[in-house]
Amino acid sequence: MELLTRILNLVKPYWFRMSIAIVLMAIVGSLSGLTAYLVKPVMDGIFVKKNVMMLKILPLIVLAVFLVRSLCDWGQRYQMRYVGLKIISDLRQKLYDHIQNMSLSFIERSSTGVLMSRITNDVNLLQGAVSAAITSFLKDSFTMIGLVFVVFYQDWRLASLAILILPGAYLLIDKLGKKMRRYSKKCQQAMGDISSIVQELLRGIRVVKAFNSEEYELKKFDRENERIFKYNMRISVVQGLSSPLMELLGAFGIATIIGYGGYQVIQGQSTPGTFFSFLAALFMLYKPMKRLSKVNNLIQNGLAAANRIYEILDTEPDITNRTGAVELKDVKKGIEFKDVSFSYGEGLVLRDINISIPAGDVVALVGVSGGGKTTLASLIPRFYDLQEGEILIDGVDLRNFTVDSLRSRIALVNQDPFLFNDTIWNNIAYGNFNKTEEDIISAAKAAYAYDFIVELPAGFDTVVGDRGVSLSGGQKQRICIARAFLKDAPILILDEATSSLDNESEKEVQKSLFNLMKGRTTIIIAHRLSTVINASKIFVISSGKIIEAGSHDQLLKAGGEYSRLYKMQFLNVREEIIDR
Ligand SMILES: Nc1ncnc2c1ncn2[C@@H]1O[C@H](COP(=O)(O)OP(=O)(O)OP(=O)(O)O)[C@@H](O)[C@H]1O
Ligand SMILES: [Mg+2]
Repeated sequence: MELLTRILNLVKPYWFRMSIAIVLMAIVGSLSGLTAYLVKPVMDGIFVKKNVMMLKILPLIVLAVFLVRSLCDWGQRYQMRYVGLKIISDLRQKLYDHIQNMSLSFIERSSTGVLMSRITNDVNLLQGAVSAAITSFLKDSFTMIGLVFVVFYQDWRLASLAILILPGAYLLIDKLGKKMRRYSKKCQQAMGDISSIVQELLRGIRVVKAFNSEEYELKKFDRENERIFKYNMRISVVQGLSSPLMELLGAFGIATIIGYGGYQVIQGQSTPGTFFSFLAALFMLYKPMKRLSKVNNLIQNGLAAANRIYEILDTEPDITNRTGAVELKDVKKGIEFKDVSFSYGEGLVLRDINISIPAGDVVALVGVSGGGKTTLASLIPRFYDLQEGEILIDGVDLRNFTVDSLRSRIALVNQDPFLFNDTIWNNIAYGNFNKTEEDIISAAKAAYAYDFIVELPAGFDTVVGDRGVSLSGGQKQRICIARAFLKDAPILILDEATSSLDNESEKEVQKSLFNLMKGRTTIIIAHRLSTVINASKIFVISSGKIIEAGSHDQLLKAGGEYSRLYKMQFLNVREEIIDR
């Protein structure tokens, strides 16, 4: 019931069109009743009494009634379609916005296929339900009211007899509807799973082929595919059962009525006109009733979809502005991690981290893979909220800044460079569409991306990403670096920003990155230690803890983990040289 209220709330903004449609439907309904009623004068006047006057007027009246009815029906359909489609497009928009505002942890928890199926499949199901439901529900109900009125007017005793059959039919519809809803839910779940499998296959196609695991992937797909078949089959069985059952029930009623009504006419208690008008109305009732029984199936599907949609809409985004949050303008003193511990769900990934980064300084995070470097850096833009301790910017807990202003003051180059399926130009300008042409070109130059971009077939207009040109890992990284250059933010986070570059280009990009770092509070994460030598302080992270801290020279002298890592890399370089 609550669900219906919410769906009705979606209709509210379109109440005017909706009221027009309802009025038109009411007209259609009463005119249907009138048509059935007209059978009586036609029968008694023309066929029994052979009245010529009636013969002249009645065909014209019938024509006029149908003309008005058709016009109103057309108008009603148009308005309802408009409202139905509009509601759905509103809802789709809302859902998309909601999903992109959810925290990373929510999105990582949910499968991509399931979220996609909410926006596409479920919204479509709901659209079917809303349009069909409101249209036939209201129109058919009005028509039924008109016809039921005629039925009772002509012969209330016969009518009551017919009505007795209805509750039985209603119970039947209800039972079938519940079954449908259950299968539809299972079917949608399987549909979501199957989209996830396809997505994963496409993303990981290189791995699949390299490991010859097509057979294995096919089996995975087949399992879900089989489930979808099974549930759809069950839905079909229920759906297929519902109309023949209704028909049988109808036939039973009609047979009874012909027997009883015919007896009355033969006895002279009723005229043939009355009986046929009654019968016409009853026959006309059958169609909207049958449609309503089908609409019920659609509505059940739609309600199940609405349930799933609202499940997402009701999940509150967990990273939001605190009340009284202020804007972060600039970083004057620096960033400080105070006893920070963090977990993605189970087990601490970061433990008692204490770091202070004076404004304008460059600090580096190094350490073995999986140590928690990326995690630590992603706490600063509040991709996740921490469980213990606090992170302060200029002495203020960063949760007291508005999320927007905080993120707008941070330029981030991710470990895995991501490009949108768009032109290189727009990829660099992403999020900074107010910058000038020169800004973008000089950002590209600073990131050492300009030269290879202009050599591409369409230069800056080359479309990259999913459906465009594929770039090398190093080229992608340089475009992401250009994006960071353009953002011109006081805090800079470089997570393995130059890891895919060869030594030569890395040196070049490094030089311009040093330019970029000037005057900015920078966190640089790197495995290649040559890139962090100049940092004012280096933190070595292992298993979520800081195990060493100091400048390059201090750490080398101390002879701990850092000097071990450094020597290992140095040795590798020497071995490479000897190998040649
Ligand atoms: N989104 C996530 N959800 C759950 N666990 C995660 C997530 N991201 C990372 N982890 C876990 O947290 C730990 C630290 O990962 P993190 O990516 O921070 O390491 P890292 O030091 O950046 O490693 P690398 O040098 O390989 O990039 C790992 O054990 C990893 O499995
Ligand atoms: Mg990492």
